[in-house]
Amino acid sequence: MSKVKGLSPETISAQALNHIDAATGGLSPAIYPSSTYVRDENYQLINSRHSYGRAENPGYAVAEKVLAELEGAPAALLFSSGTAAAMAIVQSLRPGDQMVAPKIMYWGLRNWLVKFCDNWGLGLDLFDAADPDALVNTVKKGKTKLVWIETPCNPSWDVIDIAAAADIAHRAGARLAVDSTVATPVLTQPIKYGADIVVHSATKYLNGHCDIIAGAVVTAKEDEFWERVCELRTDGGAILGSFEAFLLQRGMRTLFLRIRKACESALALAKHFDGHAGVEAVIYPGLPNHPGHELAKRQMDGGFGGMMCIQVKGGADDALNIVKRCKVFTRATSFGGVESLIEHRYSIEGEGSPVPRDWLRLSIGIEFVDDLIADLEQAFE
Ligand SMILES: Cc1ncc(COP(=O)(O)O)c(C=O)c1O
Repeated sequence: MSKVKGLSPETISAQALNHIDAATGGLSPAIYPSSTYVRDENYQLINSRHSYGRAENPGYAVAEKVLAELEGAPAALLFSSGTAAAMAIVQSLRPGDQMVAPKIMYWGLRNWLVKFCDNWGLGLDLFDAADPDALVNTVKKGKTKLVWIETPCNPSWDVIDIAAAADIAHRAGARLAVDSTVATPVLTQPIKYGADIVVHSATKYLNGHCDIIAGAVVTAKEDEFWERVCELRTDGGAILGSFEAFLLQRGMRTLFLRIRKACESALALAKHFDGHAGVEAVIYPGLPNHPGHELAKRQMDGGFGGMMCIQVKGGADDALNIVKRCKVFTRATSFGGVESLIEHRYSIEGEGSPVPRDWLRLSIGIEFVDDLIADLEQAFE
């Protein structure tokens, strides 16, 4: 790992902490596919840290250390998906505990939370992230053990004040977990604002190439709660494949470049379509008309992210017709890859989704932005 102190996060990410493979001197980290580890004739492990592959993989070290460093944290843990990472946090609560989460957050996780909390004997209260007073009115002092936030919230892009949420959580005796998938450590370091835990769907920007499913949990403190999260990964086996861990550390090397480009293009595209004849509204924290704009300017450093929604004039059919006519944007769910994606979020979430039917969700990639703007322009004609 890097011997130079005080390097910028950008250098840490590009050089992967200057990792050099100890066995070979290789600049690129090794992949360790072994599921089990050998013992000598005295039945001692040849390497005492490794016995069986469900506990951990030596190939995780680079990605975990780089991510911890970028988040300003002592430790990070990779998981088989962002959802598995989130589940480990929630399952570290005890029956009878209460947690709070935003009404609009990643839909798959919110649906799981509602079912799981009911089955597991956990209290769950949902709050309106667009209302700045809602969180303090939802948290129950002494009872709430976990406050879960996502900022910017997918797909409303509401921006939540992490420092205020941390204060509310801590005064109630709860931990604050922040799903920072959309912001990434390039734009926001939640621990700096008082978060206890940071979660990522590494499937998205951290990897950046739409070719793995992965997750990560980052901790501000290696305390008893963190030990439970670590144990749950080993006991539950929600571990990442060795090749996926390799791809993740490789993807993270270009994180800063990709995020900066996505932010720049997203802002240009949002400004272009704000006020467009076919557009009711552009929902993007980088626009001054977004309710979270001022907070985003304070909390997000160097950009507003690559995610936005466009509310199309007309209705669901008009929105779907735009999607149909796109030639450069790819029609697919997910986000955070180098290629731009467009999706009709309501169709993905289905009946009961809080997402309006005339919204399109865009994930802006790293293509030449004029090609993206021209593609949407021709789709609106
Ligand atoms: C904000 C956010 N968090 C977590 C997840 C879950 O991640 P994964 O698909 O890696 O399980 C997603 C997935 O879309 C997401 O958008």
